[in-house]
Amino acid sequence: MAHTTKAAPAAGTVDLAYDGKSLSLPLIKGSEGEIGIDVAQLRNKTGMITFDPGFGNTGACRSAITFIDGERGILRYGGYPIEELAAKSSFLEVAWLLINGQLPTRAELETFRSEVTLHTMVHQDFGPSFEGFPKDAHPMPVCSAAVGALATFYQQPETEQSIRDTVTRLIAKMPTIAAYSYKHSLGQPFIYPRNALDYCANFLHMMFATPCEEYVVDPVLAKAVDLLLILHADHEQNCSTSTVRVVGSSRANLFASIAAGISALWGPLHGGANQQVIEMLDRIEADGGDVRAFVDRAKDKKDNNRLMGFGHRVYKNHDPRATILKKACTDVLGAKGLASRQLEIAMKLEAIALSDDYFISHKLYPNVDFYSGIIYKALGIPVNMFTVMFTLGRLPGWIAQWIEMRHDPDTRIARPRQIYTGPTVRTYVPIEARSA
Ligand code: ACO
Repeated sequence: MAHTTKAAPAAGTVDLAYDGKSLSLPLIKGSEGEIGIDVAQLRNKTGMITFDPGFGNTGACRSAITFIDGERGILRYGGYPIEELAAKSSFLEVAWLLINGQLPTRAELETFRSEVTLHTMVHQDFGPSFEGFPKDAHPMPVCSAAVGALATFYQQPETEQSIRDTVTRLIAKMPTIAAYSYKHSLGQPFIYPRNALDYCANFLHMMFATPCEEYVVDPVLAKAVDLLLILHADHEQNCSTSTVRVVGSSRANLFASIAAGISALWGPLHGGANQQVIEMLDRIEADGGDVRAFVDRAKDKKDNNRLMGFGHRVYKNHDPRATILKKACTDVLGAKGLASRQLEIAMKLEAIALSDDYFISHKLYPNVDFYSGIIYKALGIPVNMFTVMFTLGRLPGWIAQWIEMRHDPDTRIARPRQIYTGPTVRTYVPIEARSA
């Protein structure tokens, strides 16, 4: 287990001129040719820092896990194009790839699958901790709390072996926790995992079975979930992954770091967008289906309505995951003989936005969240569980990035600087002398 981050080769220097002086800063080069200015000595040598809100120009680490070229719409895990992994791999195979840096042999995959299967149950004392949450609680904070709580059940000192066990436990128990959070919201009894079923089929069984009658998992649905999880499995240094790395950089354990990542993913500008997309499509439908009017509102800066599921910090051409999902949407709906008014509206919205000057000039394209909600809806997944589905998928990516961070000799506790803009020193005013 574990990636070892290679030292990026030197690629020359760049000179910074300031106050009549100059500083030569080293350049480093990644394996796909991207170049970074190494500013590690900047403050020591000049007293200055860089300023980059949202970190759009800042590389926080070297990583060998995932490569994205946003200008060309490329996404690769460990060098393998996402299109190929989506067509040929299973989610557990992709999880292994992300965590170990290579595709598993048949024997390695079998061992991994059986280890994961053996750990799907949660401790009997774990169930009652769900009971305390309000029935209408959103499942994302429930999942985050539950993953954090796992740390109370597994308190071994941190060793390579105990981290390996934690990885297996997290991947095995996450679907159980996710399904529990849903069953809790319905007030239905929890359904135990079934070890005879594969990863995604077992999840769907725990979600939709009841003790009262037989529930047979539809293989078309299980395959669609597997595809969605593969597409979500990693996305290099996005908001939730950076959160996992930042929390882990303080030496917080893997459970605690992942719980923080789940909270970051919940936000509507990140993983929470898939829920927002369906709610937006429903609003458009309820308002009479005037798609163009909605697109016009999304362009209006005085109006708070963004086109959810559109735009991305990195992709400026297309999001390859959205392309795969758009096709999967029509395939799944076709296979199930379902018509989706939401898919119709989404396709209209996409067509209008992609021919609109505002969206063209701002390089805004559908992202992974634009179509994923429509498939989830067709699979019968409730809307407030959409981001939980994203969590299931992103888990191996978070784990891989956390392990890589832990093994990287350059890792230091994350601690950005700031440009202070508050008052300079002033005289303390006693309370009786302060004006109202
Ligand atoms: N609808 C309308 N305008 C948009 C949208 C949108 N969805 N996204 C960006 N813009 C506009 C902004 O108003 C801004 O315009 P301006 O330069 O004229 O002021 C410009 O495009 C750049 O937008 P930023 O918010 O600065 O871009 P940033 O890279 O910081 O944000 C983000 C990316 C958060 C994804 C943004 O595009 C957005 O809010 N999209 C909608 C939410 C969404 O779908 N999130 C999921 C992302 S994928 C994921 O996390 C899994």
